[in-house]
Amino acid sequence: RRGLIVAIDGPSGAGKSTITKLLADRLGYIHIDTGAMFRTVALAASRAGIAPDNDASLAGLCAGLEIAFVRTNGCCRVTANGEDVTDAIRTPAISTLTSAISARKVVRDVLLRLQRHMAREGGVILEGRDIGTVVFPDADVKFFLSASVEERGRRRYLELKAKGQEVSLEETIAAVARRDEQDSGREHAPLRRADDAVDIDSTGLSIEEVLDRMESIVRERE
Ligand code: C5P
Repeated sequence: RRGLIVAIDGPSGAGKSTITKLLADRLGYIHIDTGAMFRTVALAASRAGIAPDNDASLAGLCAGLEIAFVRTNGCCRVTANGEDVTDAIRTPAISTLTSAISARKVVRDVLLRLQRHMAREGGVILEGRDIGTVVFPDADVKFFLSASVEERGRRRYLELKAKGQEVSLEETIAAVARRDEQDSGREHAPLRRADDAVDIDSTGLSIEEVLDRMESIVRERE
């Protein structure tokens, strides 16, 4: 391996994507956003009119779907069979559908193999829900990044507003709480903190503070 495998898990809105991207830049690591991969499957299923509990069709869909991360100008785009889906996978409707789709074992199995393959050489940070518990239980460094549900809902709300989407703060907090429940309560690979993960609660911390803390922990183990 060329470098470490770093796992960052945690609930939605904890700042995982922002933090992972910046931490990867600081360390010179590759960033693998596994949530974006589940979202891409959900988008494809939605377009194909496949119900989230239709395992046979989902399996066929995954088999014909090539998901890739394209890095241009330091920015990371997600493609599905060559089409840039980076923005299309971030709508509230796709977020909700992703939660249902990601509960299906057929989908998880396909993406698990793909994630392990993408990270095989190390020097990577994977962010998701089950990286430290299922995908890489032997990851070199594991973080569990969380924040209060109100804070996470507020951050997601500001994000959506900035993109011009019409949402209310209350609804957004409620949607985050519902997604937490779905992600933690599912049978396959539920959101769970790995026993050996380092806890980082980002409530009330600046991005810089969180980054400094995490960077020094990774550097110690390099
Ligand atoms: O992180 P993000 O909000 O983009 O993830 C979207 C959804 O994908 C989550 O709510 C969760 O249902 C699912 N997911 C998952 N396992 C992962 C990453 C994301 O089940 N490793």
